[in-house]
Amino acid sequence: MSDRVRIYEVGPRDGLQNEAALLPTESKRRFVELLVAAGLREIEATSFVAPSAIPALADADELLPSLPREPGVRYPVLVPNVRGLARAEAAGADAIAVFTATTDAFTTKNIRMTVGESLAAFAPVLARAGDLGWWRRGYVSTAFGCPYSGAVAPERAVGVALRLLDLGVEEVCFGDTIGVGVPAQVEKLTRVALDAGIAVERIAYHFHDTRGTALANVAAGLAGGVRCFDAATGGTGGCPYAPGAAGNLATEDLVYFLDASGYEHGVALERVLVAARFVAEVLGKPLATKVGQAGGWDPATGQPVGR
Ligand code: COA
Ligand code: ZN
Repeated sequence: MSDRVRIYEVGPRDGLQNEAALLPTESKRRFVELLVAAGLREIEATSFVAPSAIPALADADELLPSLPREPGVRYPVLVPNVRGLARAEAAGADAIAVFTATTDAFTTKNIRMTVGESLAAFAPVLARAGDLGWWRRGYVSTAFGCPYSGAVAPERAVGVALRLLDLGVEEVCFGDTIGVGVPAQVEKLTRVALDAGIAVERIAYHFHDTRGTALANVAAGLAGGVRCFDAATGGTGGCPYAPGAAGNLATEDLVYFLDASGYEHGVALERVLVAARFVAEVLGKPLATKVGQAGGWDPATGQPVGR
């Protein structure tokens, strides 16, 4: 198994979509610039959704073209329908993520469609994005539990993932939207996905640290062979349609954990901490993440680093 892990940064999108502060576009652009400088290569930059649904990301059309374009850096954007795809195309996108979930109760609140309707809505979006040669990801939110209908069987999450793969996505990402999952569930979900014929390279996990289980869940994902994990620098975020969804797994916590565990990922912890402090400052909040507070740790000196 490879020691190479992809860290998929969701701070500018999942992180900022639920924050009370509406950041100026320029602050978002600077945040992304700091993330690129930290070595992040996949940065979910914004959403082309209805501005009335997510006011915090209503500036997507201006933000995306303003971002630094570097070889090897991808800025996937969230797209719910053909209208969003047209906006993304006009703004110069080359990677998208579509998002559905395991339950009609959740998708009805989030995107006003049943799971089946959302898949039907994504078909032309993914087909067009495929014709354009864009990279495509599909989210299966509430993969471990739904805030409206409770427990979710792994078979159900995998069923939705298979339908997304049929529609052409390169990668499926199982999201623990409300942070209720534990490692035994991650193990089980990975096994069910692999047994259903999903290649391990096409699986990503998206954990929220709502109940302190996110890194343990990453460890379970790694043990199952998964090598792509989402995280948000500064630990911001949550879904406005998922009551109680606290912050994403913090990129700084993930980077520390992967470094100390011997995985390669190309991201520099001290620079992530710079970006984390920046986003906390512009949001007017203390940086509350574990590694944000403690810093990293240099085994040569025994001292914290990057604080
Ligand atoms: N971009 C901009 N505006 C859009 C849009 C898009 N992609 N899709 C729809 N709209 C506008 C419509 O033009 C309409 O505007 P109007 O009221 O001024 O006429 C309004 O949004 C409602 O459009 P409609 O097609 O009826 O959609 P809806 O009300 O059924 O909402 C979604 C469906 C998917 C567009 C909306 O629920 C949404 O954007 N949700 C995103 C939620 C999200 O991002 N959650 C966090 C991710 S986990
Ligand atoms: Zn999330």
